[in-house]
Amino acid sequence: MTLLIIGSSGQLGSDFVKTAERLGHSVIPIDYPLIDIRDRSSVESVIKDSTPDAVINCAAFTAVDDCETNREAAFALNADACGNLALAAKSAASLLVHISTDYVFDGAASSPYTEDCGANPRTVYGKSKLRGEEIIAELYGAGSMVFRIAWLYGAGGSNFVKTIRRAASSCRRENKPLRVVNDQFGTPTWTVSVCRQILSVIDRGERGVFHATCEGACTWFDFARVVAAACGIDAGILPCATEEYPSKTPRPRYSVLENARLKAMNANIMPEWREAFSEFLSVEGEI
Ligand SMILES: NC(=O)c1ccc[n+]([C@@H]2O[C@H](COP(=O)([O-])OP(=O)(O)OC[C@H]3O[C@@H](n4cnc5c(N)ncnc54)[C@H](OP(=O)(O)O)[C@@H]3O)[C@@H](O)[C@H]2O)c1
Repeated sequence: MTLLIIGSSGQLGSDFVKTAERLGHSVIPIDYPLIDIRDRSSVESVIKDSTPDAVINCAAFTAVDDCETNREAAFALNADACGNLALAAKSAASLLVHISTDYVFDGAASSPYTEDCGANPRTVYGKSKLRGEEIIAELYGAGSMVFRIAWLYGAGGSNFVKTIRRAASSCRRENKPLRVVNDQFGTPTWTVSVCRQILSVIDRGERGVFHATCEGACTWFDFARVVAAACGIDAGILPCATEEYPSKTPRPRYSVLENARLKAMNANIMPEWREAFSEFLSVEGEI
């Protein structure tokens, strides 16, 4: 397939480009400012010129705290821009594949969210991403694919793995414990696992919203211990409660997603999170 990958320098987009090329797809990577998805004519001209089989949108306003103080900018990029992508992809007869998030849920559940669970975002980021999903459904129709992912890490961009490596090293140097929240649950999900999963199902003809996170669940504390142990940092990592680690924006307490639709299609290839993290470590720097 010819894939137009938008947001190709971002954390997910950069691994999407490499993974798709490895799997033999013809890839057209593009990112801001060569495309501005908020600008309808920019989106139209890029899609018209490239006539891809599929447009993969990895571009977004992902800084959760900044979204809270820049509501307009968050909605412009995470919601309204999806309308530009939907209209242009539809008129070029290209499949639209869009990435969304666990933040569309309120985090109040105690068992994994399936695609049938009602969304109830609590943050501007989550609300803007949900609106993006709705706009795609309205303007593109049922033929699009939206993949909700969570707790993403990869070789590019900033993420929890990099933060913990940095923090654990400095805590060890200063002989201080590192406190990590132990009452928020989710599933660490490697970018490359998401890319492989999406690429394995886009030609199956099933459309709509899919959950695509790694399998299993843990807390940030559990993940931090695995990250530190893997790079040999013997820092004292201690569990703490969310209240001890205040953030500007409320984080979901429970963000575990069930890949129910992929499982029903017998197409779920998302690995268990520790297995994916081991592979990430073994290929880090190569991909
Ligand atoms: N990160 C996570 O933990 C996480 C969790 C769940 C879901 N997601 C979703 O996964 C997707 C990918 O996230 P990510 O972490 O890879 O994001 P990211 O690293 O922040 O990448 C976003 C990309 O979008 C580009 N971009 C920004 N404004 C643009 C515009 N106006 N037009 C075109 N491109 C623009 C950025 O370019 P510049 O760098 O030049 O601004 C960047 O390359 C997003 O949809 C996000 O909501 C992420």
